[in-house]
Amino acid sequence: MWAIHVPVLYKEVLNYLIPANDLSLMVDSTLGEGGHSELFLKKYKNIHIIGLDADSEIQSRAQERLSEYKDRIVFKNDRFDHFWKNYLGPDVDIILFDLGISVYHYKISKRGFSFLLEENLDMRLDRNDSLNAEYIVNNYDEVHLADIIYKYGEERYSRRISRAICTYRKNKKIKKTSELADIIYKAVPKDYKHLKNHPATKTFQALRIEVNDELNRLSEGLKYSIRHLNSNGLLGVITFHSLEDRIVKNFFKENVDSLEILTKKPIVPSDAEILSNPPSRSAKFRVVRRKKNEV
Ligand SMILES: C[S@@+](CC[C@H](N)C(=O)[O-])C[C@H]1O[C@@H](n2cnc3c(N)ncnc32)[C@H](O)[C@@H]1O
Repeated sequence: MWAIHVPVLYKEVLNYLIPANDLSLMVDSTLGEGGHSELFLKKYKNIHIIGLDADSEIQSRAQERLSEYKDRIVFKNDRFDHFWKNYLGPDVDIILFDLGISVYHYKISKRGFSFLLEENLDMRLDRNDSLNAEYIVNNYDEVHLADIIYKYGEERYSRRISRAICTYRKNKKIKKTSELADIIYKAVPKDYKHLKNHPATKTFQALRIEVNDELNRLSEGLKYSIRHLNSNGLLGVITFHSLEDRIVKNFFKENVDSLEILTKKPIVPSDAEILSNPPSRSAKFRVVRRKKNEV
């Protein structure tokens, strides 16, 4: 299979997340196309992995890619918060979260994650969910929509953008990514149109976070997952924006009684990695080790 997503900070992930022994058990909480998992399966000939993803479509790509390791990897189509809350298996040695979405989602999934492509506004990782981006932009009231764009996009022009969306939809339902990107572009001041990032970038991020309830799921996923980490077990999280990173940083700090923080500052990609894999540019990697005593 041809994988489009290049695993981020892969050298650093392998350097930090070293299995305790030959028969270690790892959970890749965000399997995606299986890039990180493949590296572990290749490097450690006896490691076993449980690979989770909320999205069954990307998971089938990982399944195909990792077919030669099928005796050592189990695939679960599940949200990581739900998985960890209900986990009844043995405690594990390594847990990885590589948050957000994959290049596959932006470029191939046809679910409207990118304002650069002409697609329906969907943005669901799990197509069985009822809430999608089209519903939000056409139904949330102006204040609620502005709050979402501000809170999850950290967008300073959230109110203007929300007002423009609500005015537009009085005449016509907003269905396409390009339509929404255009409404946003027209709503923001001139000097905001010429920045490095398109003015729709933050609003699209906010919608995606709202559709998939990403931040609540992250908090819950962290909380439940560490309960299943062996003593000396390692948990690593790669984040891609400040909202995620803040949650992870604070969670680690709040749990210093049970977790030893191994990365005083987050690990970030080298210039060479950013050059060869631009989607890595905002990545931050933090790692903790479970202390011997119980939480
Ligand atoms: C950045 S990608 C992972 C890429 C992967 N490490 C690789 O190297 O191919 C993040 C993945 O996490 C999945 N995901 C996001 N939120 C999730 C959640 N709450 N539960 C399970 N999977 C989730 C997405 O569907 C996506 O495939």
